[in-house]
Amino acid sequence: STPALIDRFGRKVTYVRLSITDRCDFRCVYCMGEDMEFLPREEILSLEECGRIVRAFVDLGVSKVRITGGEPMVRKDALKLFQDIGHLEGLHELTLTTNGSQLARYAKDLREAGVKRVNISLDSLDDQTFKRITRVGELDKVMAGIQAAKEAGFDNIKLNTVMMRGINDHELTDLVDFAIGGELDISFIEEMPLGEVDHSRANSWFSNDETLRLLKEQYDLLPSAETTGGPAKYWRVAGTRTKIGFISPHSHNFCEDCNRVRVTCKGELYLCLGQEDKVDLMHILRSGQDDDALRQAIIDAMQIKPKGHDFDIRRAQPSVVRFMSMTGG
Ligand code: GTP
Ligand code: 5AD
Ligand code: SF4
Repeated sequence: STPALIDRFGRKVTYVRLSITDRCDFRCVYCMGEDMEFLPREEILSLEECGRIVRAFVDLGVSKVRITGGEPMVRKDALKLFQDIGHLEGLHELTLTTNGSQLARYAKDLREAGVKRVNISLDSLDDQTFKRITRVGELDKVMAGIQAAKEAGFDNIKLNTVMMRGINDHELTDLVDFAIGGELDISFIEEMPLGEVDHSRANSWFSNDETLRLLKEQYDLLPSAETTGGPAKYWRVAGTRTKIGFISPHSHNFCEDCNRVRVTCKGELYLCLGQEDKVDLMHILRSGQDDDALRQAIIDAMQIKPKGHDFDIRRAQPSVVRFMSMTGG
């Protein structure tokens, strides 16, 4: 089918990220404050509403859907949504971003429901550091989740690491070695200024240029033109099955190739992670409008997709007040 979702800058939108809950069993320091408050149940899309929104996007030519959170798998019955949308015609890739804590339980069912790939956050391999970052700990649960994901036979498993100076930067090569040993991919993400957190992001800021430079000293890295349809630029580690991704919104802005939009757990369609432009889809659903109206609202929203973010990690205040766990990253 011809792509229906094209913005003012000619960018085709083929990738939707849907956050199905703002709740999480972790409290990662870069993501939220220690005393984060979550939304009441009635303000959150039902799983049926999530399914309806995904169908509307797929009807409009979206071929990749990523379920995010919060931690999506802490939502009761989350699996039902995956089973609902996993085999939709036109949806080529259903993917999941997770902190891994519930994967030991759900990996196999998710695979069977049609999830192709999973991205698992992993910022440390050390119990103490892991606890310092997530404020909860339970690294062993995440490790068991990674193992279960491997056994479930996903097409690809990727680790996501947010590098923070003075917190986990000493583990850079340990993390890469872990990925290589487990035949996993790993992406390094520059910390982004979303939501007010308890530490200074300016102080912990770690550029992906530096990460890449350090890794080149230790590994034989080959630049790769591969893409997973997300913002990462990849390098292959020669002689291994691992590729290393770099998601560098600050040092290498990738907005001009943006192909994605996100829907929050409140049913807001955000046109950019780093801007406030949005359309309220929940209102359309809950005021009894039909799927034509829903699709038309999505088509119209393309006209307000902004050119890009203007994150500035040096500012004391976050660039965007909304938390990453609302928009799902
Ligand atoms: P792949 O399908 O494997 O490429 O996944 P992905 O990188 O698109 O998704 P994932 O959920 O693993 O996100 C990794 C990081 O990329 C998160 O920190 C996201 O916030 C970030 N990210 C994804 N899309 C965008 C974007 O459009 N802008 C910015 N600034 N960050 C993004
Ligand atoms: N900056 C960068 N990455 C973040 N994540 C969560 N909050 C932030 C932030 N402020 C990461 C998580 C997860 C992915 C979806 O986004 O670690 O891997
Ligand atoms: Fe939870 Fe992910 Fe935020 Fe960590 S980054 S607190 S795992 S939503």
